[in-house]
Amino acid sequence: MFYTLGRTVVKHYEGSLGAALTAMDHCFRRKRVGLLKPLLSLSLVFASFLMIHKLKVSEKDAVGVKHMRGAGWCGSECFSFKKAVAKSSLGSSEAPVPGADAQRASNRTSATWDAQVLNCSEDASVRTQDWFRRLDPRFHQFVLHRHCRYFPMIINHPEKCADGDVHLLMVVKSVIEQHDRREAVRKTWGKEHTVDGKKIRTLFLLGSPTTGKDTKNLQKLIEYEDQIYGDILQWDFMDTFFNLTLKEVNFLKWFNIYCPGVQFIFKGDDDVFVNTHNLLELIGFKVEERKEADLFVGDTISKAIPIRNRQSKYYIPKELYDKPYPPYVGGGGFLMSSQLARRLFVVSEDLELYPIDDVFLGMCLQKLNVAPELHPGFRTFGITRRRVSPMNSEPCFYKNLIVVHKLSAQELLKMWSVVHNEDLICARKTSI
Ligand SMILES: *[C@@H]1O[C@H](CO)[C@@H](O)[C@H](O)[C@H]1NC(C)=O
Ligand SMILES: *[C@@H]1O[C@H](CO)[C@@H](O)[C@H](O)[C@H]1NC(C)=O
Ligand SMILES: *[C@@H]1O[C@H](CO)[C@@H](O)[C@H](O)[C@H]1NC(C)=O
Repeated sequence: MFYTLGRTVVKHYEGSLGAALTAMDHCFRRKRVGLLKPLLSLSLVFASFLMIHKLKVSEKDAVGVKHMRGAGWCGSECFSFKKAVAKSSLGSSEAPVPGADAQRASNRTSATWDAQVLNCSEDASVRTQDWFRRLDPRFHQFVLHRHCRYFPMIINHPEKCADGDVHLLMVVKSVIEQHDRREAVRKTWGKEHTVDGKKIRTLFLLGSPTTGKDTKNLQKLIEYEDQIYGDILQWDFMDTFFNLTLKEVNFLKWFNIYCPGVQFIFKGDDDVFVNTHNLLELIGFKVEERKEADLFVGDTISKAIPIRNRQSKYYIPKELYDKPYPPYVGGGGFLMSSQLARRLFVVSEDLELYPIDDVFLGMCLQKLNVAPELHPGFRTFGITRRRVSPMNSEPCFYKNLIVVHKLSAQELLKMWSVVHNEDLICARKTSI
């Protein structure tokens, strides 16, 4: 039997979710809001930011260092941030230190982000090749810029892990326009706090606004937001669907430099529900079992092949990839140990970028000979695949699962408060 699961065609899905996975609908994950977002709402958001900023600016003075590139597109807008860079000791004068990551871990100040200049001209030699001429034009940009891997940082937080060991780093892929989702995540599962002495920290990964949008205002908004919360990492590459893999590799490199002491990393989308309590419990089990070294857990998809339906968002032409996919974990939310993340970083550097980010990580895992673990608590395709099913809004499921896709900001806030209400009575605890 064949059916479509997210970004792949799957043969004989073998997970314990099998029974629930009958519908054929495409996954609608990570839908990026296009050029539609009206400017009006932008100015409203902007106004509210100014207000919040006034209220909160005194609370938070530890603003990250902004590495702006010299002649940035934000021009004079960047002036104040350039000053910040000039004052900072973390500027470009410090030489990047290559070498073993263990050494980096023992000397946190020795490395800084070294991709300082935007140098991503297209690889013209590709244009002369036969397969490129046959290739679907929507992949041209990707192939021409495939060699560009690391980009300068526009917003950085080198201090994120500086104040002692972080137990769990919540890393959330987002785009500038999804401000309300980030707000909801900060109020719920992404709240930075300490549970039983275990420190939880949160970061949002962003690229730069795609051209054609109101880039200047969007950039200003995200900088205000970061001044308030200090949880944004932004790189100077266009935040497009096919550039999502850049978020993976740039984060892996970033983490290796700035947060090597973190113990676990949860990586997910900004439209998922995460039961932090259950996630910490799972980590606890894995630590007890001493399974940290190879820990990579989520909604694992095995025996998948690329989607050849040209209408699909996840369509991959034969010219680009013509093999079954290695087992990979749905990018909606997964857990890994930092030990494994460091090894992923090392092997990722030898692999060509692939336009689908979670498949790319699957390729890295395969190179490491690590099989990602399927855990039924990670429901990155929804609790059931039928969107209208009442199960998808049943709080008792959320109480017993770890990750559920997909919720709007409002749904997330509401579900969070219901699930954490002590009056919620669930008939039985489903084993997860
Ligand atoms: C640690 O970092 C400092 C400052 O960059 C440098 O002088 C020193 O040589 C480094 N030590 C090691 C062991 O890398
Ligand atoms: C940067 O760009 C120049 C000129 O376009 C090119 O010669 C050089 O190889 C590039 N460097 C890298 C690291 O891509
Ligand atoms: C990814 O971002 C880079 C830098 O902004 C850009 O040159 C490239 O065209 C983007 N690639 C895709 C496929 O959007």
